[in-house]
Amino acid sequence: MSSIVVAISLFGSSSSSSSSAAAAAAAAAAQEQAYDAFASSYDRLDGNSKVADTLGISSLRKQAALVSKGDVLEVAIGTGLQADYYDWSQIISYTGIDQSQGMLDMAASKFGAAGIPSLSLTKQDASSMTAFKDDSFDTVVDTFAFCVFTELDKVLSEMIRVVKPNGRIVLLENSVSTNPFLKVLQDVSEPLITPLSKSCRWNVNVPLLAEQAGLKQTSSQSTAAGTLFLGTYTK
Ligand SMILES: C[S@@+](CC[C@H](N)C(=O)[O-])C[C@H]1O[C@@H](n2cnc3c(N)ncnc32)[C@H](O)[C@@H]1O
Repeated sequence: MSSIVVAISLFGSSSSSSSSAAAAAAAAAAQEQAYDAFASSYDRLDGNSKVADTLGISSLRKQAALVSKGDVLEVAIGTGLQADYYDWSQIISYTGIDQSQGMLDMAASKFGAAGIPSLSLTKQDASSMTAFKDDSFDTVVDTFAFCVFTELDKVLSEMIRVVKPNGRIVLLENSVSTNPFLKVLQDVSEPLITPLSKSCRWNVNVPLLAEQAGLKQTSSQSTAAGTLFLGTYTK
């Protein structure tokens, strides 16, 4: 009798884990298609420099870029809005990945400038960066994609795996507010807001996730009541 129960429970757990893997794959595929469709209008709608300057995003982008040195991996580069901010004289190689070919195609034109030492832009899933060995990069940077990743825990593990032990992880993200009233508003409204904001969940607690993943914070700052967060970390 007990062996039947064990068999049923094993069958149930493998079936539910394979269905959750299938659901994750379907969500990732849907998002890839959605970002392919967003690509041509992304800079006009989401990369407006006047809005970014006013909100302090341009300044944070610049700071994130200036601590990016050596062999740099940028995950989920989108249309390459970070490209203009890097100091290419302190970068040995630059690798940009995104799961959307449409977004990568838009990024390619921004990286066309001369002087970039070693450049690679490739279509790759940040939650499974099989092309990269452990401890490969001096800097691993992500800007404004934590809110979008369907398997954020896997992406963070992969970022930690591929960064060198003395390297840095740079996170510039939308995050949950440090203001308790705004946080409640973000939590309550998240199901309504996410479909309207290119699948970006605006209540991800980025500093907490980094801490739970075992990262050591070396610097941090936030603006807009904590909803814009820039942190640098080592593993
Ligand atoms: C909100 S955009 C941010 C783009 C860019 N980093 C920026 O600062 O504008 C999110 C990007 O994450 C990409 N993305 C989402 N999930 C991904 C994954 N698992 N692997 C790689 N890229 C992913 C999307 O295709 C999209 O380009």
